[in-house]
Amino acid sequence: MIVIGFLNPKGGCGKTTLATNLAKALYLDGYSVLAVDSDPQGTLRDWYSAQDEDAEGPDMAALDPKAIARGLKGIGNGYDIVLIDGAAKIEARDSVNLVKACDVVLIPIQPTPADIWGASDLVEIIQARQAITDGFPLAAFVISRQIVGTKLAEGIAGVLEEFDVPVFRSRTSQRVIYAESMIHGSSVVDNEPRGKAAGEIRAITNELLELLNGEERI
Ligand SMILES: Nc1ncnc2c1ncn2[C@@H]1O[C@H](COP(=O)(O)OP(=O)(O)OP(=O)(O)O)[C@@H](O)[C@H]1O
Ligand SMILES: [Mg+2]
Repeated sequence: MIVIGFLNPKGGCGKTTLATNLAKALYLDGYSVLAVDSDPQGTLRDWYSAQDEDAEGPDMAALDPKAIARGLKGIGNGYDIVLIDGAAKIEARDSVNLVKACDVVLIPIQPTPADIWGASDLVEIIQARQAITDGFPLAAFVISRQIVGTKLAEGIAGVLEEFDVPVFRSRTSQRVIYAESMIHGSSVVDNEPRGKAAGEIRAITNELLELLNGEERI
């Protein structure tokens, strides 16, 4: 079981969108996938519930961050990949619990100054954990909702270097299909498999699998 967290206390940065789309993409790649909602807002649960009764895809569960490690032992067993959708405005203690439970933390980040400033507390928590566990969880930024052609989108990878956390080459751009796909509990890879958004999600999925492969985790 590989546990991947989508964490960033900044609201609206794309945690749930990435978690749901990657869950579906990994499922379609043949992995058994459990998507875990750790956010009291329950957006991932709403996404799952919006699907048809007989829809095929990842399974879903909800767990409180306070009991995440114990909870995963019970329900995560037997899955290849467990994806955890984090919450906004989360208490530091809950972030620590989630980080401890993860093999990989992906940090969705929008290319704006406020989003960049908002990431430092989470990065500190991850790096403090890595320092005592031989580098785990692995972590990477995933640039999310970029507006192609803007200075912010072009400059962000350079600005993020100060955190000393790798940045995925693949990104999501601002595309209405991401929001539309949530309506029916779907994903961009189902809705427009040959579209640009599906290409972005497949590229991020492949980069994640490369990262896990490099560590001989999958
Ligand atoms: N690449 C994108 N293009 C267009 N809209 C997007 C994109 N990514 C996310 N969104 C939309 O932006 C909003 C916030 O995204 P999302 O819910 O994934 O963020 P979040 O980090 O999970 O938010 P929260 O912190 O509230 O849980 C949603 O309405 C979503 O549909
Ligand atoms: Mg969310």
